[in-house]
This record gives sequence, structure tokens and C-alpha cells, in this order.
Amino acid sequence: MPKILVTGGTGFIGSHTIIDLVENGFDVISIDDFSRSTSIALSGIETITGKKIKNYSVDLKNFEETQAVFMEHTDIDGIIHFAAYKAVGESVEEPILYYENNMFGLINLLKCVQEFGVPNFVFSSSCTVYGNPDVIPVTEQTPIKPAESPYGATKQMGETVIRDFTKATATNAILLRYFNPVGAHPSGHIGELPVGRPQNLVPAITQTAIGKLPKMMVHGNDYDTRDGSCVRDYIHVSDIAHAHTLAIQYLLEEKNETACDVFNLGTGKGVTVLEAIQAFEKVSGVPLNYSIGPRRAGDVVAIYANNEAAVKKLGWNIQYDIDKMMDTAWKWELRLKELNDQAMNN
Ligand code: WQD
Repeated sequence: MPKILVTGGTGFIGSHTIIDLVENGFDVISIDDFSRSTSIALSGIETITGKKIKNYSVDLKNFEETQAVFMEHTDIDGIIHFAAYKAVGESVEEPILYYENNMFGLINLLKCVQEFGVPNFVFSSSCTVYGNPDVIPVTEQTPIKPAESPYGATKQMGETVIRDFTKATATNAILLRYFNPVGAHPSGHIGELPVGRPQNLVPAITQTAIGKLPKMMVHGNDYDTRDGSCVRDYIHVSDIAHAHTLAIQYLLEEKNETACDVFNLGTGKGVTVLEAIQAFEKVSGVPLNYSIGPRRAGDVVAIYANNEAAVKKLGWNIQYDIDKMMDTAWKWELRLKELNDQAMNN
């Protein structure tokens, strides 16, 4: 049974990926310092899979503590690296926090990959590396443009560091560029747990609908798009998770074409903000209290993926459409309210 180390394993995409790996026969360990997550995800993973996942509460910026995990597990067949800060707005306000955390963490991890000869490495990248694309849909060959934020810059630099690393070592890597991950595991036992006021669209929708937020703001409806609001490629977190399992299998079976292959992870369909809201209202039956506000600085007008490479080479079949994304996100929000009400009554 191949052993996979998942960093950021208690985060949104990390936790969903651990479930998919376990369901596909992998032995999994996790490193997560809980700086942006809680152990709720670990109990959710155990409820869903019946497996207790060992998590090492280690900060990747601490090289010795990171190295100690590899000394205990000298048989790691692959690593999936999620652990990073990812709030675009926060990265603009605190660039050094982002460069230190995201880059020092990656470099320490790669030093261990080299020292212990880990053969395979999958990196959590983002469509943000494309900036504001001139042509859509974007392919993996679409030119990289200057990052719109320090967060995006850490993803671009991360890709460069990894590409150079694979040229100098025997390790093979895959860069997965996510579009907009949304939704929650269909069981309702795990999902997104935004810290503080949600910046992203779907948690803002569900928290408004459940009454945590009084109203939601649509950031601009005067863009040159079919309804004036921004276009994104929303992709269900479980579809994203399964793509990671496929990427690890692709490397283990040595199907990779280069030492550092790249794949877009999106549905290939663009959805506007207003269409996403309409989809939510349709599946939840809850009219959303929102108003149209000014544009948000740094927003890309429109981006969605050409995902043919992942579909054809990884054998990726997307299971969730926008309605199912909204349905699982709403069910998770309802579950969180249930848990909160229970806690208040105890
Ligand atoms: C989507 C659209 C907003 C909230 C970011 C990162 C990306 C990835 C996903 C990590 C935009 C609009 C949002 C609200 C709104 N993160 N919106 N009202 O900015 O496309 O991508 O998160 O990998 O790297 O850049 O996602 O969900 O913040 O915004 O109108 O209350 O929804 O203006 O048009 P984004 P988002």
C-alpha cells in the first residue's frame, strides 16, 4: 500500500483529498500545524473513512521538526503539498507573512524530499498564476502574467522552485492549478471552515443565507460579461480531491511526460457571480439577501479552464455541476449551524 504524506491535511482541500486517497487504497499521514484549521477535519475523515489519520502538528518553517517526520517515515512514496496561506487580500496587507510561510515551508519540505529521496511530489497551485488572461479558456500553455497578489506570487515562485528542483534531482512533480474550489463532501461531515468573515463567494453566499451575515455584496455588475458580473470556473472540492489521487497514481505508474507536468483543474465552464447566486437560490429554496456594490480591487474579469489535459491524461471525470456544488455547500452550512446549536445547548 503506497504511503502518501499530505501537508495541510486538515485544511479544506487537504482533508477532502485524504478521504479520496484512503478510499483508493493509500496509506496516508498528515502534517498540519493547525494555524488555519482545526482538528474537526480529522474527526470528519475518521467518520467518513473509519480510518484514524496520524497528523503531525508541525510547522514546515521548522526544518528539524519537519525532518523528524521523514526520519520516522522513510518509506514515503509521494507527497501532496497543500500547506500554505491562501487569502488574497491578507497577502496584500501582509506580504512577508506570505513569502515566509509559503516559500520557507516549501523549501524545507523539498530539502527533506532530496535528503530522503522521495520520488513523487504534487503541488497545490492555482489559476491565479495566469493573472488576468487575454484569451479564455486558459490552457496550461497560456502565458503566466505578473501575479495580482503576493499569494499568487508565492504560487508562481513555488512552481519555478519545484520545476528547477525536478531538473536537479530524481524526483518527479505535478503542478495542479485549481480554479475555484467550492462545495463540501456529500456526507456533510467535512467542508470549508473559513476563518473570520469569508472572502470567497460561496461561503459568503451560504453564511448570508443562514443568517450569519446580514447581507452579501456582489462586487460589481458593470464588467464586460454576459450579465456584468465576473466569470469564474467553480469546481467541486471532491472533484479536485480525486484529481490528486489520479496525479499520484499517474506518477507512481511513471506515465508522466516530463519531470514536472502541469494540469488545470476546472470544469471548463464559466459561471458568473449572479448565475452562481441563482443556482444557490434554486437548490436551497432560500432567496439571497444581496446588493450590487463596487468592483473589488484585484479581481480578474473572467477566467475559466481548458481542462482537456487533466481529463485525457489523468483520466479525470468531473462528477459535480454548479447545482450540486451549491447543494453540498448549503448542506454543510446547515450542519455547522446544527453543531453550533448543539454546542450552545450543552
Ligand atoms: C469569486 C468572485 C468576487 C465574494 C480566489 C483566489 C484563488 C482561489 C479562490 C486559492 C469574484 C465575487 C466574492 C463576495 C462577490 N484561492 N465575490 N462577493 O477571487 O476568484 O479566487 O479564491 O487558491 O487563488 O484568487 O474567488 O470566491 O473570492 O471571488 O461578489 O462576497 O465572486 O468579486 O468576482 P477568486 P472569490
